[in-house]
Amino acid sequence: MPRPDVLDSLVSLAKRRGFIFQSSEIYGGTGSVWDYGPLGVELKNNVKQRWWHAMVRERDDVEGLDAAILMHPRVWEASGHVAGFSDPLVDCKACKARFRADKLTDVACPRKPSKKPGEHTDCQLTEPRQFNLMFKTFMGPVEDSAAVVYLRPETAQGIFVNFLNVQQATRQKVPFGIAQIGKAFRNEITPGNFTFRTREFEQMEMQFFVEPGTDMEHFERWKQARLDWHLGLGLDRDRLEFHQHTEKELAHYARAAFDINFDFGGSLGFQEIEGVHNRSDFDLRQHQEFSSKKLEYVDQVQNKRYLPYVLETSVGADRVTLAILVNALREEAVPGEQEGRTVMGFHPALAPIKAGIFPLTKKDGQPEMADKLAAALRKKFTVFYDEAGAIGRRYRRQDEAGTPFGITIDGDSTKNDDVTIRFRDDMGQIRVSTSKVAEVLGAYLDADHARAESTRVG
Ligand code: GAP
Repeated sequence: MPRPDVLDSLVSLAKRRGFIFQSSEIYGGTGSVWDYGPLGVELKNNVKQRWWHAMVRERDDVEGLDAAILMHPRVWEASGHVAGFSDPLVDCKACKARFRADKLTDVACPRKPSKKPGEHTDCQLTEPRQFNLMFKTFMGPVEDSAAVVYLRPETAQGIFVNFLNVQQATRQKVPFGIAQIGKAFRNEITPGNFTFRTREFEQMEMQFFVEPGTDMEHFERWKQARLDWHLGLGLDRDRLEFHQHTEKELAHYARAAFDINFDFGGSLGFQEIEGVHNRSDFDLRQHQEFSSKKLEYVDQVQNKRYLPYVLETSVGADRVTLAILVNALREEAVPGEQEGRTVMGFHPALAPIKAGIFPLTKKDGQPEMADKLAAALRKKFTVFYDEAGAIGRRYRRQDEAGTPFGITIDGDSTKNDDVTIRFRDDMGQIRVSTSKVAEVLGAYLDADHARAESTRVG
């Protein structure tokens, strides 16, 4: 049975709680561009940090990079983007809307009653023509064709053109990888589904350079490692699947490609969140030819030179953050209460706020004690202090923010120097000495990491 569509409720929760806002909303919004609010920026930063840790910090065979968005225009000729990074576009002469010719059954015509493009009797769809998805702009003060540059549509090319710089600076030996996180831009014809397909987004990409002939064995290893990473974020196993590219889907230079798909529910269903590709030596060969600079690796042990093959792992930071939001959202009944609750059940390590701190009343020294505890915890954790309203409502607000721990300071706290810790997921409570709170939170966060690790497959 398909999972329910939660995107509409997620869009309103995301705005209400400050995860994600529409860009330039007061001007009517910008088409398919989104801003991350206070909770959203913490969540997405946590995702990026986890990726950086797993891909760069915890490995000795992957180096980090932060290449510029604007690159020499020849890069995009070499990569094939100028000639071929396009989607088939059709216009409707009746309603003036534009659609992707290969996605006509996935979108609605803007006119009422709601129908697919081409289904109204007076629809006039043109023949498809190729529409290049790269955003163009001009470098320098002269706006002519010689000054055209592109906003990068993927971060990968910054890695390819720096392959030898990084290799020589770090003295890494093949096999080794280069990883980076950065913005990419695509003038998508039919963006949509909230942050799933947008025109400005962030990618987390890693290119792993290997000796030709060893590529498929590295490919299998990376495929599994990347699935494990998604499981470690707390994404449900039965919402994740591999999709192997068919002959028709496979890029002409690719030797193999798998997508990691996540089930977003509703009509969107299983969709790609990451691609794992064996790109052969296509990219280095193209850049070598277009730049006339040798990009071969000199293997001193085997006394030979070659262009390495590249295994690429490419994941969208926004898309995986959306998957985490979808996976986390749950509406549930609360035993003994009439009103249910909305919970964002994030993996605690990803939660934007780790602990809410609540003095039960605004008197008897409770706010002062809570304030002091909040200041101490802030050195290590993101915490949120809240003394307004009924305690039940304060808990509910933090449940919606996905805060895993609620710390309550009550009448006994000021006497005994202890507090109550409430757990978001089962609403269970424990009493802890104030001096131990940081230690207890840290232990729970680590324990959860271990639990996540234990879900590894293979
Ligand atoms: N260098 C390879 C590459 O860019 P891709 O499949 O086009 O491959 C990789 O993109 C990932 O980037 C996707 O799996 C997705 O997570 C993310 N992505 C691509 N286009 C996107 C868009 N318009 N909006 C949000 N994320 C996008």
